Amino acid sequence: MSSSTPQSPTPTPQSHATRPSRVVFNRRVGPGWYTLRLEEATIAQVSRAGQFVQVKTADRSSFDPLLRRPFSVYDVDRERGTYDLLYTAVGRGTRWLADIPDSPGTMVEVEGPFGNTFTAPTDRDSIYLVGGGVGVAPLYLFARELLASRSALPRITLCMGARTREQLQGIDEFRRLSLRCEVATDDGSEGFHGRVTQLFATLAERDREPLRVYGCGPQGMNESLRAIAVERSYPTEICVESLMACGFGVCFGCVLPIRKKPGGDFYNRRTCYEGPVFDARLLHPGIE
Ligand SMILES: Cc1cc2nc3c(=O)[nH]c(=O)nc-3n(C[C@H](O)[C@H](O)[C@H](O)COP(=O)(O)OP(=O)(O)OC[C@H]3O[C@@H](n4cnc5c(N)ncnc54)[C@H](O)[C@@H]3O)c2cc1C
Ligand code: FES
Repeated sequence: MSSSTPQSPTPTPQSHATRPSRVVFNRRVGPGWYTLRLEEATIAQVSRAGQFVQVKTADRSSFDPLLRRPFSVYDVDRERGTYDLLYTAVGRGTRWLADIPDSPGTMVEVEGPFGNTFTAPTDRDSIYLVGGGVGVAPLYLFARELLASRSALPRITLCMGARTREQLQGIDEFRRLSLRCEVATDDGSEGFHGRVTQLFATLAERDREPLRVYGCGPQGMNESLRAIAVERSYPTEICVESLMACGFGVCFGCVLPIRKKPGGDFYNRRTCYEGPVFDARLLHPGIE
């Protein structure tokens, strides 16, 4: 692998102060999935792509469920002091979120941001963002960061996968950015008929530029991307969304077997603190 391969980014300073965040809107944007916009100046200012916040999904006086739920920061507006989460209602916590009125005012208790960030590519890189499900959330913020920080437009290809075209979460937002959008659906209802990682592998093979790959998605997608990246020596970072408890490194509830350097031994490492973004070569086959 080239010397410019990203190493796992170092953890950023963590703050677990509770940051009460005011709901701006809580919009249903697809079947079972929502965009929640929250107002809180510090989170909006300091959050970077790959980081996540821990949201209390219970009323203020309640501790049921006890554990906060982690969500990637999907977008930020630093001037207005707002940040967005993209979420799917899958269980108690996310259904509680989905019940928040789609109108300003409700206060939500949030901690963070936590975790590390994606490593910046070089100006020469052909950048691939490979995502599925709510895993597209950190990739969207990363695309926006890249487009805002470069004087020359970076070459970015988004490969987004879903079971059906209706489940291509956030695709309209990506299509408004200056990047190439390619989609894959399991049922062939839009784009490539098959897995998003098959689509990525085909596009990447034809690309003559040095590649830099960033992925986030369901466990199966992450594992498939990891395997392709390692086999083809593509510099790749994957954001893993394993189960978490505290979110800031003290409980060890989120550990996975992860190397400290390519080819090294596996250690139980905290995905909330040393991650959630890891060099694909450090991840164990099977990932989560
Ligand atoms: C770093 C990180 C970032 C994350 N970012 C996002 C994000 O941006 N948007 C988002 O929606 N989620 C995200 N998640 C996942 C999110 O935290 C879980 O969906 C959430 O904790 C589920 O809580 P719940 O109380 O609704 O479900 P629970 O009651 O805890 O679980 C109910 C059932 O749903 C299953 N389940 C849990 N999560 C998922 C899932 N994601 N997909 C399918 N089934 C699931 C469980 O296995 C269980 O069977 C992230 C997780 C991590 C670790
Ligand atoms: S969730 Fe507690 S250490 Fe990671």
